[in-house]
Amino acid sequence: MFKSLKFPVVAAVLALSGLATAGPLGIGSTATAEMIAGWDIDVRPDGMGLPDGEGSVAEGEGLYEAKCASCHGLFGEGEGRWPVLAGGEGTLDTLHPEKTVGSYWPYASTLWDYIYRAMPYPVPQSLSHEEVYSIAAYVLYLNDIVGDDFVSNKDTFAEVKMPNEENFFIDNRPDVNNERCFKNCADPSKFEIVTTINGVTPTGHFKEDSGVAANHYDGNPSAVSESGISTEKNITKVALSEGATLGRGVYDMACQACHNSGIAGAPKVGDVAGWVDRIGQGMDTLNDHAINGYQGADGVMPAKGGNMALSDDDVVNAVAFMVESSR
Ligand code: HEC
Ligand code: HEC
Repeated sequence: MFKSLKFPVVAAVLALSGLATAGPLGIGSTATAEMIAGWDIDVRPDGMGLPDGEGSVAEGEGLYEAKCASCHGLFGEGEGRWPVLAGGEGTLDTLHPEKTVGSYWPYASTLWDYIYRAMPYPVPQSLSHEEVYSIAAYVLYLNDIVGDDFVSNKDTFAEVKMPNEENFFIDNRPDVNNERCFKNCADPSKFEIVTTINGVTPTGHFKEDSGVAANHYDGNPSAVSESGISTEKNITKVALSEGATLGRGVYDMACQACHNSGIAGAPKVGDVAGWVDRIGQGMDTLNDHAINGYQGADGVMPAKGGNMALSDDDVVNAVAFMVESSR
């Protein structure tokens, strides 16, 4: 009786939603050319997939300095511990190999693909094709792979030969199946997941009497900052409100790139003096600035840190975390 009812209900829902158009089951809809183009952004080693457009080393210089140098250094040397993009030739077989675009990467096209897909780190996929052509040309120039008059487009880019290409080859040795070698592992049936709060190891992690030490977060909020999640450096140990506890995960994902170390003028979390006047503006202003972005005296705070997938509540929680950790 129950079963026989199910089908008409599903069919009615699909009919109402107007989506029942394609496929043997009558569900789904055909992707439009535009939808496919949105996903189809990969570039192959031989350059296939590179779009139209053009950019020069000269144009790349200014763009790189504005959008990349704060992390990767003016000459690709890497600020602090951000990745180094240039140099390192001849170090790969030494005790301290330095893998950079120039010393390690086999194909220039990967550089185009990577920058277009993933950089700048806080606002990925914000660059136009032309900007990526220019910036990628400039990164190649920083590595002495192209001259200062290089103009990059889909033809010239596909022709660039990377110094390390030959050291990449197909490994055709047969697969080997190893014996399992872990010993004395805890019995998986003794684990129990009670809750999953973003960014915080849940309390009550282990079943009682499981014989496994609960040496993680023990439910005491002041211990959060000792759990080594990633922000330990600047952040003082304070008891966090519920919103701030949720906000910590958002912060780690979308805000710490700038606010942990003070990139591009961002106030460091945990720097009480740097936050006093900001906090004095009131939470409404801080939340508004974080959600909608603003240009301040120290730099540009991008709306939602550049991550438009965040809800307003996520951002409000992240601000609560930042404020509570900075006073
Ligand atoms: C806020 C800091 C930041 C900014 C700004 C930034 N990057 Fe990055 N970049 C990173 C981080 C972090 C990684 C490593 C990411 C990873 O491994 O998942 C990275 C990795 C890279 C790599 C790969 C390095 C390697 O050898 O693996 C390239 C190339 C790169 N970035 C280029 C750029 C370019 C070009 C720009 C400017 C358009 C830019 N980045 C802006 C932080 C930044
Ligand atoms: C690309 C770097 C960057 C990222 C990512 C970023 N911020 Fe900022 N943020 C800034 C800068 C720069 C300022 C300082 C602007 C000024 O006052 O001149 C700032 C300031 C702020 C302020 C202080 C506002 C005020 O009125 O004083 C808050 C709150 C804030 N950010 C929240 C966030 C939150 C929440 C996130 C993550 C969702 C985030 N930021 C991600 C760069 C960034």
